[in-house]
Amino acid sequence: MSASADRFDLVVVSNRLPVDRTVGPDGTSGWRRSPGGLVTALEPVMELSHGAWVGWPGVPDQEFEPFVAQGGSRGGSFHVFPVSLSEQELERYYEGFSNATLWPLYHDVIAQPLYHRVWWESYRSVNGRFAERVAEIAAPGATVWVQDYQLQLVPRILRRLRPDLAIGFFDHIPFPPYGLFAQLPWRRQILEGLLGADLIGFQRAEDARNFSRAVRSLLGLSSRRGTIEVPADPESGMGAHLAVFDDYPISIDAHEFEQLGRDPEIRERARRIRHDLGDPHRVLLGIDRLDYTKGIRHRLKAYGELLDEGRVHVEDTTLIQIAVPSRERVETYRRLRDDIELTVARINGDHSVIGRPAIQYLHRSFPRREMAAFYLAADILLVTALRDGMNLVAKEFVATHVDNDGVLVLSEFAGASDELKTALLINPHDIDGLKDTIVQAMEMSPAEVSRRMRAMRRRVSEDDVERWSDAFLARLRAVSDDNRQGLAAEDGSRRGARSRADGGGRA
Ligand code: G6P
Repeated sequence: MSASADRFDLVVVSNRLPVDRTVGPDGTSGWRRSPGGLVTALEPVMELSHGAWVGWPGVPDQEFEPFVAQGGSRGGSFHVFPVSLSEQELERYYEGFSNATLWPLYHDVIAQPLYHRVWWESYRSVNGRFAERVAEIAAPGATVWVQDYQLQLVPRILRRLRPDLAIGFFDHIPFPPYGLFAQLPWRRQILEGLLGADLIGFQRAEDARNFSRAVRSLLGLSSRRGTIEVPADPESGMGAHLAVFDDYPISIDAHEFEQLGRDPEIRERARRIRHDLGDPHRVLLGIDRLDYTKGIRHRLKAYGELLDEGRVHVEDTTLIQIAVPSRERVETYRRLRDDIELTVARINGDHSVIGRPAIQYLHRSFPRREMAAFYLAADILLVTALRDGMNLVAKEFVATHVDNDGVLVLSEFAGASDELKTALLINPHDIDGLKDTIVQAMEMSPAEVSRRMRAMRRRVSEDDVERWSDAFLARLRAVSDDNRQGLAAEDGSRRGARSRADGGGRA
């Protein structure tokens, strides 16, 4: 039977599919599962509930048939429904509105957001296409989980098309403070889009507060204990419902990274990396998508000054900076790359000696096992994000260091800092503070390193990504059951609905 004739009880929808298109040397093409916490966490429930994933395969102007993705890390399979984007939609919806309007706006306007009406139109129509695809394949009463800022209009469009569905939305990136969000010409539409969901999840409590303030200021809807009564919209025929919002900090598959950290081959590879660097006394590491939110410039500035001042020496210390290529056709990303590479070259020019680079710079992505080897090879991980929804690299580093022997320097502007409290927390704008903290990390006694790392590892291994998705989905089902029973519309039952929606499911 063709997958497209099927109906699914759980549908996950994200801009990018968790599979990559591959083309072999003989020209035959196929799909390869791309590793990621989200897909790993959802694999078991996708398998159990006959799940499907709707998303864009990452290449424009190509139509692909639905197919079954098999052979994930847990052996589970799920159906994949590719949504195609034209080259123009790639420019306007993805590179434009998603990554040159929303991305900078939601990350504290570190770069100037651009507001173009044709981009917005494209965002609207692509969100409509995603929603329609979901509406076609979702079984009656199915659960739909919409992921991230590229698809904020999907919940409302979907509720109009399919009021029977349980609709969840999770925002992987920060939700900005009202003073910034208010810049967006389409601010009301975005909020209304999100409020089509039964449950809206954010990374941090602060994001949830920003959202609730925006809803109050722009739509005049106040929330009570994390619940908003969304009125009916007679124009579109959408009935009233309750929308619940809360923070659900995302995590990683901690067990997988612990296993990688114990894997003899990876441990040997980590030793090899250090050896190839000339066995320096200290290895520092930065791993980021090459994005202006990650504070790579601030990190390099601090490191360069430490070298200038003789507080760090290339003879015994190396910084590995891995910059994973990202959004390379967007202008701000291009400029960032030039800027970072100029800075790295200058620092290396000033400080490297033959066989001992001050900074070992790698502009490419690595397979997960190699990433784990880099984590293990490093004594110190520098996470200096200026704003970051969560930062999973920090959690991966922690989970991999099974011997409790790594130091995490972590920006307080990354969501992970809410949980990883025994990291060395820094404000990346405070260059002197950052320099002192790097030195503190380098001089920390093994006993203190171990005490801090142990506490972080406990936290990451308890709150892993499976627990995150279970908690979100359980709460979503509780809220949507209340909505389906029509409690929201019936005055007498409102209080009951609210109390159940408040308490339901959150572990
Ligand atoms: C961030 C976003 C994700 C996105 C990822 C990679 O983590 O929250 O939605 O998938 O970056 O970005 P890209 O634009 O390459 O999909």
